[in-house]
Amino acid sequence: MKENRLGINLAGLKLQNPTMLASGILGYTTETFKNIADGGAGAIVTKSVGLKPRSGYANPTVTQTNCGLINAMGLPNPGIEEFAKEISETKNVLHIPLIVSIYGFTAEEYATVAKKAATAGADAVELNVSCPHVKETGSEIGQKAEILKEVIKKVKAAVPKPVFVKLSPNVTSIMEIAEASVDAGADVITAINTVKAMAIDVETAKPILSNKVGGLSGPAIKPIALRCVYEIYQHVNVPIIGCGGITNWHDAVEFLLAGASAIQIGTAIATKGSNIFKAITRGIDAYLKRKGFRSVDEIVGLSHKS
Ligand code: SIN
Repeated sequence: MKENRLGINLAGLKLQNPTMLASGILGYTTETFKNIADGGAGAIVTKSVGLKPRSGYANPTVTQTNCGLINAMGLPNPGIEEFAKEISETKNVLHIPLIVSIYGFTAEEYATVAKKAATAGADAVELNVSCPHVKETGSEIGQKAEILKEVIKKVKAAVPKPVFVKLSPNVTSIMEIAEASVDAGADVITAINTVKAMAIDVETAKPILSNKVGGLSGPAIKPIALRCVYEIYQHVNVPIIGCGGITNWHDAVEFLLAGASAIQIGTAIATKGSNIFKAITRGIDAYLKRKGFRSVDEIVGLSHKS
């Protein structure tokens, strides 16, 4: 039988390889998720869904800069009642873990949405406590350890599935926030969401995005994300998912060595297409083989040991 060096176990979820679709980059349809699975992703994280439908901000919601994308879409989503049907349908056709990203404006709302997502078939939920620009949710929750802990505890009590917590880099100490999350029961930490940013049109002298500020993603934030994963690994004992600017296998291996058990890919899909998951997986596999490692697990956090 062919050896699978790439399989991982993430808080009980079995992934054929450590690559995942990051939340936020693509929509909500089964067809989109199938395309990502066909592209080789080991798991999928949906765009964030809330209790009620939300139309998001007016255009422009995305702008390209010379070092990455800045987006402020404003959490547009169909609401969990509508999305629950898509979760069930997706679970009928997909055979990789489906993690539903959720947000709320109160701890109770997070818990209600998480419960509905889990009942519809989500294999885990990822708490968006890190969106850098929607008022009273996202990083406004994830920057305050006590409120964050209340949210995590409520969600943990509401769902029998693993709870991932996606952290913001826009904090004084991501290590303290990660520790607080794990104390409250987080099963997995995802690091990081986008970095708060903006762009200004010099002709009109106005901010380009309708919301003025948004979140920067892409290669510019990779060294920030890598540093966050490295620091978190030294302070918590749960799996970490690295996310931020990963575009090739070399980036992915850096995150694994820093302490990530898996990696999420987002912005790079826009330029490289969904086959990026296969390309990165092949690259990780070749690296493991060349270096004589028998599994991904053997290199997780290895940079801390030298
Ligand atoms: C958005 O919908 O505006 C982005 C969500 C996020 O940054 O988490």
